Amino acid sequence: MGHGGNVIAELTADHDEVNKLFDELMAQPVGSKRRRELADRITVELVRHSVAEEQYLYPAVREHVEGGRTLADKEIRDHAEVERLLKALESLEPTDDRFDQQIATLKTSVQAHVQDEENRLFPQLADACSPAVLAELGDKIRRAKKLAPTRPHPSAPDTPPANKLLAPGVGLVDRVRDYVSGRRHHIA
Ligand SMILES: [Fe+2]
Repeated sequence: MGHGGNVIAELTADHDEVNKLFDELMAQPVGSKRRRELADRITVELVRHSVAEEQYLYPAVREHVEGGRTLADKEIRDHAEVERLLKALESLEPTDDRFDQQIATLKTSVQAHVQDEENRLFPQLADACSPAVLAELGDKIRRAKKLAPTRPHPSAPDTPPANKLLAPGVGLVDRVRDYVSGRRHHIA
């Protein structure tokens, strides 16, 4: 979702939004269907966020920040770990004990990513770039994120391709990633 502001404000607002979704999920009754719907929503938001960061944030970090290559490589490894956890979550029903365990592991991993970016990466980027560069990156990231619909379920559009893209369940991570990164324009 677009929030406005420079790249750091935009991505920090994404982090806050995902945190709120985790809180909302945890507030639902254990085993409820709503937990699955919120897990799908978290999946879509995290994948969109990751792709936007990979397309615009990390190249800028590599270019402008001292030691940026190493920093960017670490963040990309963290994204791969988060996606591995999201994929493991895709097929779990909320009535399965592993669902809540998987959510807890995912939340820990996402919070580590958030802390790392907000406390280490963003301040270094802010020091290294002019306000104009940071603002332009914010615009690019907003445009990248707009390429994907935000709500997987239950209000997903019922016309192709969004209905197939956003149908919950197995393959959601790959479908969203392909769609947002422009690798696939038609969802088979
Ligand atoms: Fe992030």
